[in-house]
Amino acid sequence: MSIDPKASSVGIASIGLQLPPLAMQVEELARLRGQEPAKYTIGLGCREMALCSDECGVVELAVGAAKRALDRWHGDLDDIGLIAVGTETAVDMSRPLSAWVADGLGLRGAVRSYEVKHACYGGTLALRQAVEWKLAGAVDPRSDKRAALVIAADVALYAEGDPGEPTQGAGAVALVIDDARVASVDPVSFPWSEPAFDFWRPVGEAYPRVDGAFSLDCYKRAAQHCFRAMVGDRDPNAAIDGLAAICFHVPFPKMVKKAVAQVGEGFGWDAERVAQIFDQKVDPTMHWNRLCGNAYTASLWISVANALRGLSVGDRVAAFSYGSGFGAELLMLGAGPDAAAGAWAADVEADLGQRALVDAEAYSSLRAS
Ligand code: CAA
Repeated sequence: MSIDPKASSVGIASIGLQLPPLAMQVEELARLRGQEPAKYTIGLGCREMALCSDECGVVELAVGAAKRALDRWHGDLDDIGLIAVGTETAVDMSRPLSAWVADGLGLRGAVRSYEVKHACYGGTLALRQAVEWKLAGAVDPRSDKRAALVIAADVALYAEGDPGEPTQGAGAVALVIDDARVASVDPVSFPWSEPAFDFWRPVGEAYPRVDGAFSLDCYKRAAQHCFRAMVGDRDPNAAIDGLAAICFHVPFPKMVKKAVAQVGEGFGWDAERVAQIFDQKVDPTMHWNRLCGNAYTASLWISVANALRGLSVGDRVAAFSYGSGFGAELLMLGAGPDAAAGAWAADVEADLGQRALVDAEAYSSLRAS
């Protein structure tokens, strides 16, 4: 099967990101928990975890990212006909997070507004639905409301002392889905799902329950299925070499390295080839993820936003989404004319430049508040 990179003129028209105002180095957490810092930095590949404050939670992150994406877009708020927020940091069991975001933006009227939940996969599902909504021609042709606003936003917190604690993080990415000025999204994608209890949060509980080792196995298996489906009967070397960047959901960077090894094993690659692909096409995409930790639904899209910067028109990017439970999907993107300038990097630079690093004691107080 061949996939025409120009198959769709629909895609990402603009990107906005928002990171929280606080962060802590994982070495500080290691000190607090009596762990070897190398377990977190080398064993898990983590560096800093972004933390929210009383003033900035998931709603503020989502609204901030959305405003930045809209400011950067050539259209008006009035042109938005769909707003979908992917999150696992719901603030209400009934009212969708999109209603809070729409309120913050002043968005109302002939607009489809909803929240999508599927663990870390929710943002990707929202994006897929927005692309399919546009491709399907579901909008009244007499209406100007032709663009969608997709937001992936989360605050990832584990119970204090949980093995997942060093992987915590937070952040939001907003994507206007319209003409593919930043990146086209292929209509064809490669999903894989299996019902599993690898990571879940029962109703009423504050923190997730995790079967850690099993969750790693689920993620790796899903990646192998999705990449195998994408390659199909083509030569895997040629298919992978043809990609400018390969982005993954990043629960922690070592997870991604393990997944690349499993995908490579399925293709019959030796350790040297796996390392070459990881170092050249995967690891550079995780630079921002290392500075904000796991932002659940936003993690993949933080990596994609980073990877698109500086690409030439037509350069191909693979984006592997994973959500516990579990559902996964591999999306194929093609860089558009606005990718090269990568204007959204200014959001990350501004937020990183302003954020305060907290120490272990301040972190403990923050958790207690
Ligand atoms: N120096 C260097 N490395 C060290 C070390 C040291 N002093 N001590 C330990 N390590 C290494 C270990 O060898 C291990 O590396 P390998 O896996 O390569 O062997 C690594 O550090 C981690 O050590 P453990 O396996 O003992 O870690 P743990 O059991 O305490 O916790 C975890 C690991 C289960 C992943 C935990 O962080 C966790 O529960 N995370 C949340 C779940 C998660 O992220 N799952 C990913 C898939 S699910 C998903 O993707 C959804 C999502 O976003 C959550």
